Amino acid sequence: EKGGYPHFMLKEIFEQPDCINDCMRGRINADGDKVVLSAVIDHKERLLKARRFVIVACGTSWHAGLIGKQLIESFCRIPVEVEYASEFRYRDPVIHEDDVVIAISQSGETADTLAAIELAKEKGAFIYGICNAVGSSIPRITDTGSYIHVGPEIGVASTKAFTGQVTVLTMLALTLAKEKGSMTDEKYLEVIRELTVIPAKIKKILISNPKIAELSRIFTYAHNFLYLGRGYSFPVALEGALKLKEISYIHAEGYPAAEMKHGPIALIDAEMPVVVIATHNAMYEKIMSNIQEIKARKGKVIALVTEGDTVVSKLADDCIELPETLECLEPLIATIPLQLLAYHVAICKGKNVDQPRNLAKSVTVE
Ligand code: F6R
Repeated sequence: EKGGYPHFMLKEIFEQPDCINDCMRGRINADGDKVVLSAVIDHKERLLKARRFVIVACGTSWHAGLIGKQLIESFCRIPVEVEYASEFRYRDPVIHEDDVVIAISQSGETADTLAAIELAKEKGAFIYGICNAVGSSIPRITDTGSYIHVGPEIGVASTKAFTGQVTVLTMLALTLAKEKGSMTDEKYLEVIRELTVIPAKIKKILISNPKIAELSRIFTYAHNFLYLGRGYSFPVALEGALKLKEISYIHAEGYPAAEMKHGPIALIDAEMPVVVIATHNAMYEKIMSNIQEIKARKGKVIALVTEGDTVVSKLADDCIELPETLECLEPLIATIPLQLLAYHVAICKGKNVDQPRNLAKSVTVE
């Protein structure tokens, strides 16, 4: 059942190249130059007249929503807000009839997300669901939606559902941008072409699994971890931290790297491992100075770097190399080693990774 893997979580991490292909199948054409998410095409008038999108979700799905916001704003130039479903539903939120609410949920059963969309529906918003469990409650009450098609996720810590959600959000933003004419043809083609090679790039990262396992052994002593990233990598930092706390019970926080000096830097000492997403992107130089600040305070830096990086690797204590990709698709790549790191740290500590204490796979109560 676990397909030869010791745990569902590891199996699901390794399934991600296939899952992303399944998610794209029938939506990106064979020539790799057109993406069609049918729900977007069917409802394009309604979606394009929206004054804004509001994404509601919880936990890992909320992190996917933060990435979706950046994708939709950048490709479609439509303002997007991302809300914790639990906060949204109790805040008497301002919702207009021309708003589009996107609900993201792996299980399709999360009580807070369900209640948030019921509320938005009452106020006349159009509801788009992004779910995994076919026929679950959320897809049944939405106006339309797209399944992520990654297959059943058994491990309590969400892995392949996250990358599936980000893949669907990327396709949603591309399909809508094409309809709206808000993206140049060159950029549109460039993103689709790169999206189709992401599964192969993930396979490459999975080869470094033994190295990440080895690295994890060093950090089982830690009581705290910090994860830093900027731009598209900030939600990845949040997701990396959530994975670690859920299954290894080590306290971890994700931060936008530039916020470090506004508080978290006070925590840094020789006992503090800091995971920094420091790939070649627009923020590379700035992230580098964050790494220097951490090293000056004797913090331990584990850096995710672009293949062949020679600069960060001299500063960081440990490096994990990632294949080069477009900045907007980097979350699909950078999340993988963080899932593996959390998995191996938890295993080294003898924890039950598939069924962590106090957590349930679908949170159907408040
Ligand atoms: C994290 C995790 C949870 C879920 C959250 C939302 O690994 O599993 O944070 O992401 O409970 O669940 P869904 O996506 O089913 O609504």
